Amino acid sequence: MSRTPSDAPLSRKSWDTEEGRAPERSAAAPSDAAFLDATLRPSSWDDYIGQDGIKKNLQILIEAARERGNPPEHLLFYGPPGLGKTTLAHLIARELGGVLRSTSGPAIERVGDLAALLTNLAPNEILFIDEIHRLPRAIEEVLYPAMESGVLNIIIGKGPSARTLELPLPPFTLIAATTRVASLSAPLRSRFSGGTFRLEFYSEDDIARIVSRSALILGIEAEDAGVREIARRSRSTPRTANYLLKRARDFVQLKRRPLSREAVIEALGLLEVDELGLTPLDRKILGALIERFGGGPAGVGALAAALAEEPATLSEVHEPYLLQLGLIERTPRGRVATPTAYQHLGKTAPQDLQDRLM
Ligand code: ADE
Repeated sequence: MSRTPSDAPLSRKSWDTEEGRAPERSAAAPSDAAFLDATLRPSSWDDYIGQDGIKKNLQILIEAARERGNPPEHLLFYGPPGLGKTTLAHLIARELGGVLRSTSGPAIERVGDLAALLTNLAPNEILFIDEIHRLPRAIEEVLYPAMESGVLNIIIGKGPSARTLELPLPPFTLIAATTRVASLSAPLRSRFSGGTFRLEFYSEDDIARIVSRSALILGIEAEDAGVREIARRSRSTPRTANYLLKRARDFVQLKRRPLSREAVIEALGLLEVDELGLTPLDRKILGALIERFGGGPAGVGALAAALAEEPATLSEVHEPYLLQLGLIERTPRGRVATPTAYQHLGKTAPQDLQDRLM
């Protein structure tokens, strides 16, 4: 089995390290991955590289709220996985001198779960809900008034004798994250009065700075050209960059070699990560689009079925980067492979496609 960086760290089951997601892990013995993620997470704005626009706006929002003595308003972060949504939430909590209470949409199954989370928040604690798009609709409806008016409406009883109990809540901040902002309901989206922020892919220079910082923290002696090669193949994503750094470190450790550009190329070659950072599944997506759908247009559902993958894996994990690189385009009728995609796979684009883009 080839385990690829985008498959591995993004799989909820095995890799995500946020609190509450991996019940099999004992608190006394955190896994290597959880420990390393926490170690590499920036702990101050100065350490947080990139996303400059978002950073400036958040700094103002937090500082102003702190001066007024209020918790900041609710915030929503969205964008492809691995760009630092959770990291930002941790950083905000830290700046406020508190901690982040983390949970995720699918973990909140009953109104009572949400009530328990909200009523147990201490001053300065922030509630973080990852994958908010997976919150059950009935819970969403309890969340609106909690976010807007600071009350929890609990329905007691059933039928004509049912009553609503209004429970006032202490002021709180909710930070939510999603890879699928379009699937949030409009009423929920509108409750994020502090702002909705889209995280962007990072520049290669910023990723190189992140990799250098991580190497320093982990005590890895990496040559500049090695760092640069990891950055180039990182899908413009810090989580992937740190994953590739750790795998390259394993490789050079066992080979007793320096972490040079050549070593990185060999190590990442074994992982089948190519020079654009594409994984086997990325290349299979492009291959299927070209071979089985004549270059497209093809719907995500059809493409996913052809590859026996989940449509969400394609649209949330793989597509954003393929779009970013200009290897595919999104049209109203589906996804289309661009001439660059043909070229990357060593194929010739049909003449009409080349003409269309001339
Ligand atoms: N690790 C993950 N994201 C980071 C960022 N934006 N800056 C520094 N280190 C990071």
